[in-house]
Amino acid sequence: SSVDMDALKRQAAARALEEVRDGMKLGLGTGSTAKHFVELLGEKVQAGMKVVGVPTSEATKADAIRCGVPLTTLDEVDHLDLTIDGADEIDADLNLIKGGGGALLREKIVASASDRMIVIADDSKWVDALGRFPLPVEVIPFGLAATQAAMARAFAQAGVSGQMVIRKAKEGHAFVTDGGHWIVDAHLGRIGDPPRLAGLLSVIPGVVEHGLFIGLASRAVLAGAQGIRVVER
Ligand code: A5P
Repeated sequence: SSVDMDALKRQAAARALEEVRDGMKLGLGTGSTAKHFVELLGEKVQAGMKVVGVPTSEATKADAIRCGVPLTTLDEVDHLDLTIDGADEIDADLNLIKGGGGALLREKIVASASDRMIVIADDSKWVDALGRFPLPVEVIPFGLAATQAAMARAFAQAGVSGQMVIRKAKEGHAFVTDGGHWIVDAHLGRIGDPPRLAGLLSVIPGVVEHGLFIGLASRAVLAGAQGIRVVER
């Protein structure tokens, strides 16, 4: 049930919290799992731990303020010790699909500015191959049809194909990211070579960023009914 799932997410967050040391500069992820981490970190801060966090979304910023976690920005600090974030899918190389919550751009900037990234999840996120979860691609609305045509060519070169759906907000209009862009969700199925697809998407001008996180996570903390599994890369 979703209650059990939420308990697993919190367990993964609690395990990752054990890696946090006094004085660390932290990247704070987005989503329901990362939210548990922010709440547990807030308890540590109330108990006297000194850390600062850079939030990866307006939602996480609000959560961190509510929990009393001191915040900074990547303008004030240019490098972080550790980022803790969730994911939509995780493979055995610790490549990820992220962006289900629409925060992939700031998430990738923050993870890339960090010495280490730990991904936390319930073990349903662990997959044999990435791609069953639709790949979020953040795009500029200008020239969208041309950008989607270029994306389709990139998919073909990487040996995948599938429908592209412009993400909608609840109200029916296009979902708008924190950066003011749109999201195309690409329903690809199994992605045989995620690093290759990532490279092909990254060079398309209308693509701001995509949800493939290649080589960023160094550890996954996966909570399941059988306990917690830690995977290192
Ligand atoms: C946000 O854009 C995403 O990358 C989230 O990190 C991802 O969707 C995981 O969210 P949950 O922890 O809520 O599953």
